[in-house]
Amino acid sequence: MSVSEPEPIVYDTDSAIFNDDAAALAMLLRRPDRVDVLGVTVVAGNHTVPQGAEHMLHLLELVGAEDVPLHLGAHAPLVNTPERAARQEARWGPISFKGAFDEGPDVRPPHGGRFAAVRPRPADAASFIIDAIESRPDEVTLVAVGPMTNLAHVFRTRPDLAPRVRRLVFMGGAARVPGNVTPAAEFNLWFDPDAADEVLRAGVPEMVMFGLDITNHAPVRKTLFDRIVAADTPLTRLMQHHMGPRYARDPAATYYVWDCITAAWLIDPSVATVSETLPIAVETAFGPACGATTVTDPGDPRGRPVEVMLDLDVGAFYELYSELLTAP
Ligand code: RIB
Ligand code: CA
Repeated sequence: MSVSEPEPIVYDTDSAIFNDDAAALAMLLRRPDRVDVLGVTVVAGNHTVPQGAEHMLHLLELVGAEDVPLHLGAHAPLVNTPERAARQEARWGPISFKGAFDEGPDVRPPHGGRFAAVRPRPADAASFIIDAIESRPDEVTLVAVGPMTNLAHVFRTRPDLAPRVRRLVFMGGAARVPGNVTPAAEFNLWFDPDAADEVLRAGVPEMVMFGLDITNHAPVRKTLFDRIVAADTPLTRLMQHHMGPRYARDPAATYYVWDCITAAWLIDPSVATVSETLPIAVETAFGPACGATTVTDPGDPRGRPVEVMLDLDVGAFYELYSELLTAP
């Protein structure tokens, strides 16, 4: 693959109405010169899989990308459960967001009140990802912006394929800053720490981490939000629907747009200004640190080399974010 060709990616997502999984996908789809979205795979995390799939199908329809296949993935983490989360809270204090663990089985229609005409494809997420890697060995980048359960199933089924992935780019973890759902853990890795642990140890040749270290740097404030929604396109109307009420209640509110920073870097790597390759391990033991990403000591066999993104050209990111989300 020459450097000028778009990077083939599988977008593995725990979905959102808009912020941030859906917004990040819209950004990627608007730069086909940089990324070729082979498919979207949905995993439980922010939402249950059936609910999350409806949000992402709606997004695909809204941006005219109905030809991008969407596949349903793992409905539950490898080990973590709502009951275990409740036990964790009872012993070690509140978990500020539990996503799909707090959602019931009902599936609500997306914004507009109508389910998208485009439906999920029959193959499950793991089978789709396996086919993608097999048909383009050494070329496919796995972009994981949710818990890594689907990817863990891929490498449990086909451990031989891990070295044939081009790279894993993931949003998750926190190397040198506190977590966002517990003092120790970031949501994606907290929801399924065992999957993240397995995937990081699977043998993918290159791994790039967009953890809270970098994603904390660029919260979206009302001024930027107002400028974007003023474009008044179908996409910005969805943004207004999802994010507007919070800004209306509290003009000082901020939204973190974690996955969008990951997407921005895939489009323009110059947005990340500082990174370090660090030995990273995931804490899987049931305890207050469950789901934490640890920078291990030299010689600790648990650590895997991960390029950890640490700082951002915030102005360049806001510009790209706003340009892509306001495009007609
Ligand atoms: O902690 C932030 C991450 O958790 C983001 O990917 C967000 O979309 C949720 O999945
Ligand atoms: Ca996400």
